[in-house]
Amino acid sequence: MSVVSNSRTLDFAQRMSRLGTETAFAVSAEAAAFAGEGNKVYPFHIGDLNLPTPENIVAATHDAMRAGKTGYGSNYGLAELRAALAANINASHGTSYTAENVLVQPGGKPVIGKFFLALLNSGDEALYPNPGYPIYESQIEFNGGKALPYGYREGAGNFEIDLAQLERAITPRTRFLVFNNLQNPTGAESSRTELEQVAEIARKHDLMVLCDEAYQGIVYGAAPTSLVSLPGMADRTVILYTFSKTYAMTGWRLGAAIGPKPLIDAMAKLAVNDESCTNTFIQYGGIEALTGDQSGSRNNLAILEERRDIAVDLLNSIPGFRCFKPGSTFYLFPNVTGAMAALGTEDYEAFRRLVLKETGVSFTTRGHFGRPGQSEPQRYVRLAYSGIDKDQIHEGLMRLKQFMTRA
Ligand SMILES: Cc1ncc(COP(=O)(O)O)c(C=O)c1O
Repeated sequence: MSVVSNSRTLDFAQRMSRLGTETAFAVSAEAAAFAGEGNKVYPFHIGDLNLPTPENIVAATHDAMRAGKTGYGSNYGLAELRAALAANINASHGTSYTAENVLVQPGGKPVIGKFFLALLNSGDEALYPNPGYPIYESQIEFNGGKALPYGYREGAGNFEIDLAQLERAITPRTRFLVFNNLQNPTGAESSRTELEQVAEIARKHDLMVLCDEAYQGIVYGAAPTSLVSLPGMADRTVILYTFSKTYAMTGWRLGAAIGPKPLIDAMAKLAVNDESCTNTFIQYGGIEALTGDQSGSRNNLAILEERRDIAVDLLNSIPGFRCFKPGSTFYLFPNVTGAMAALGTEDYEAFRRLVLKETGVSFTTRGHFGRPGQSEPQRYVRLAYSGIDKDQIHEGLMRLKQFMTRA
């Protein structure tokens, strides 16, 4: 890949041509430009929260900063935070991790790259969810692997993994499985049976698993079982943990990898080479988040649940839209096949732009979460209700309803 800068030709490393990105950021830019022209925008495209980080977390971080906790720390993270994370995961997952199984990271996202950097050899294959968080595919391919997509389909009350397709994709070169229960973008939550089947496949084909639990704290009903709780899984799994969503801390950049010690040690060595350590005083906020008063995150959850209920009811009243009510995450992934047909388009971007222009409702589409497979006759878009208040949800979706009723 050759590009001409002002002064000379720059030859980028070949691997750069394999690095993906989050195309959803372009939707934010487009929505901002549309708003800048004086138009009303209803921001359902943002996977971020407009809710506050709980005050006790903010206070603990300030205290740490004032107390001079501003120097370098261990590349593994603060011992107290590592212990708190191990205890927290053990309590909910029934595992027996110690602090030695924990690597603190600047967010959940860096866990993805380090997992593959530590384990993947050129030509190895990795299964990943598609639609799914786009960074899995990007990091698999960047590190020289082959990304094998697996999909979801509409089940009785929510999306379910197409397990037959997942297992069909496996070859002798397949070494990894990326699994994201409480899934972005579908809101899918695996039943106990589905989890057991996924674990069975991982054991049978000797796969190392990256278990992305970014939304494990955004649950409105009963606590979900983790894949890592099932027999034989803790030894072959790294959990991606993040404070981002559970504690409304997306911009703080605090997360962790939790897994077998030798792999955590290898990833910690990558951390020395990469970021040295995670921000020291923010880790004190993390300790408070895990061990302190939980009322702030509970309040945020109650607000999100109310938004979900309003959005799902309204979406299901819109001609051409059909939407599940997920018990977790802050995403809705309605089937819009009928709506797109009514507007005479099969093109996701044309549909998205038309709805934005006519109603101000801004969302991302299935196309922002991995390349759609050849045979996907059903069409979906993703609406996030984490960054928009309930009155705006109501107003925006009523506009969408009026527009679709006229179509
Ligand atoms: C499924 C999933 N995994 C990981 C992340 C990354 O989280 P963080 O902000 O902690 O890096 C996100 C963020 O949106 C996500 O949706």
